[in-house]
Amino acid sequence: RIAPLLAPSLLAADFANLQAETQRLAPSAADWLHCDVMDGRFVPNISFGIPVLQAIHRHAQQPLDVHLMIEEPQHYLSAFRDAGAANITVHYEACPHLHRVVQQIKALGCRAGVALNPHTPVSVLEDIIADLDLVCIMSVNPGFGGQSFIPNTLRKVAALKELIVDYNSAALIEIDGGVSLQNAAALVEAGADVLVAGSFVFNSPDPVATLADMRQQLNA
Ligand code: DX5
Ligand code: ZN
Repeated sequence: RIAPLLAPSLLAADFANLQAETQRLAPSAADWLHCDVMDGRFVPNISFGIPVLQAIHRHAQQPLDVHLMIEEPQHYLSAFRDAGAANITVHYEACPHLHRVVQQIKALGCRAGVALNPHTPVSVLEDIIADLDLVCIMSVNPGFGGQSFIPNTLRKVAALKELIVDYNSAALIEIDGGVSLQNAAALVEAGADVLVAGSFVFNSPDPVATLADMRQQLNA
C-alpha cells in the first residue's frame, strides 16, 4: 500500500483568516491544498472564485488542487490557471465536451481532473481515462462540507482502479467528501491515491496535528 496524498479542503477553514490558515498548513503533512469553487448553479451553494484563489496562492506552499463545481468551466480555465491552480478538476456532469475541456486544461500546463457525482458510474470515463491526470470520486453530493460519507464509494474506487489499470492510465484517484480516519484506511486499501478532508481537519482542535495523525496512521 502506497501512502496517499493528503489534501485538506479550505472550504472548512476560516475565510476571514485565509492567510493565516494557508500559512499554518505550509509546514504540515498536507500535500495539496484543495480549493472548492461553487457557482450556485451546478451546485446549490456559492463559495469563492478567482480573486480569492489568487489571494490563497500568494501564501500557499503546496500546489492548489482546484475543484470546479461550476457550469461551463471552459470559460474560466485560463483564469484559474493564472490565479495559481496546479490541478484543475471539472465535473463530468457539467461538460458535454469533456474531451476538449481536458485537452484545454493540459495545454495550460495544469493537471487535468474529472470529478464524478455519487450517482455517476466510473464506466463513463472509459474513453477519456487515458488522458486524465486525476479522477475525483465524490463521496457526498457536492455543494457543502460536513456531510456524511456515502459507503458505495468504496465499490467505485475499486471499479475505477480496474479501469485505470485496463487502460494503462496514470490517473490518480481522489476521494472528496466525508473523509475521516474512520474510512481513510479502507479507501487507500481500495485504491485511493489522494484524500480530501475538510471538516475532519479544520473542525478538529488542531488541524496540523490532525494531518500529522492521518499521515502517521496511513503510512503505518
Ligand atoms: C464538497 C466539497 C468538498 C468538501 C469536503 O462539495 O467538494 O471538498 O470541502 O468537506 P468534508 O470533508 O467536510 O466533507
Ligand atoms: Zn472538493
